[in-house]
Amino acid sequence: MIDNLDIYNFKEDEQEDDREIISDLQNSEQKKINSKHFYDEKGSRLFDKISELKEYYPTRTELEIIEKQKYSFKNNLPSNASIIEFGSGSNKKIKKLLNALDKPKEYISIDISYDFLIVNAKEIAKKFPKLNVKAICADLYQLGSISKIINENSQKIGFFPGSTIGNFSENEAKNLLMGFKKILGKNSFLIIGVDLRKDKKIMEKAYNDSKGITAEFNKNILNGINKKIGSKFNIKNFEHKAYFNEKKKRIEMHLISRQNQNIPLKDYDLKILKGESIHTENSHKYSALEFEKLALSSGYKKIDFLTDQKKYFGIFLLKVLGN
Ligand code: AVJ
Repeated sequence: MIDNLDIYNFKEDEQEDDREIISDLQNSEQKKINSKHFYDEKGSRLFDKISELKEYYPTRTELEIIEKQKYSFKNNLPSNASIIEFGSGSNKKIKKLLNALDKPKEYISIDISYDFLIVNAKEIAKKFPKLNVKAICADLYQLGSISKIINENSQKIGFFPGSTIGNFSENEAKNLLMGFKKILGKNSFLIIGVDLRKDKKIMEKAYNDSKGITAEFNKNILNGINKKIGSKFNIKNFEHKAYFNEKKKRIEMHLISRQNQNIPLKDYDLKILKGESIHTENSHKYSALEFEKLALSSGYKKIDFLTDQKKYFGIFLLKVLGN
């Protein structure tokens, strides 16, 4: 037991989730798997490995920005605040942020991967004994249940690093930002990391690393799906593909079938043709101005914009408007 840690599990109705997985796989226009399914234990570990690759610039760059510009957090954000991290993953960024802020009172960590979440929350609780830590296992589509356990009194700072916002379409991103606003409440802030559009070669390399870790991460989603819905995908029969879609301004990841195949799902076989793809992820890349506009139209104003020398990555400090 750790005195300053509370744990909550809001993992969504599993059956609902399974139905969605199957209908996404049956989609006749484009087979797909929601990218939230990357993050089983192995997937979370693989993503951690990706974040240390030299080609994968976002994590390293974002950490460097937090470190070098920590005074902006201290100067612009309230003391004694409650920090709510949406989709926590590793602890590196939150540690830097907690150290930069003045007397943070509470840290609420929300993540979809249970064991990962608990290990990380324990580490933070031990490292910051005066901080109240709450670990909530949930996905970002369940903000409603999360809002119930969030205390009304303290001033909130939302933290959404890593450019996870890029996984969502512009419309979904807007809905998510509006959902955060509801949870955060009046006078609150949101710190959000956004990957900035740059030379296509640099972006594409970040998703096609020379060690093949991203390929392994991409294929591993099928192992997770097998466990979840009892399908029999064989990862050897798929190839990793990641490229920048110029029109949609996003990196897309796909799994390309190496042959015609029939995958046993629950009660029937899923037909996949040679060369056909399963779309596993979008990672939108914004210009700073585009994102600022998106934030504004979702009800936030920009307090500060932090970036690195090469402008590879941006961190927006936003404040909830009015309401
Ligand atoms: C964790 C969603 C920010 O989109 O860059 C990394 C996930 N996918 N390599 C991203 C990811 C392939 C990552 N996010």
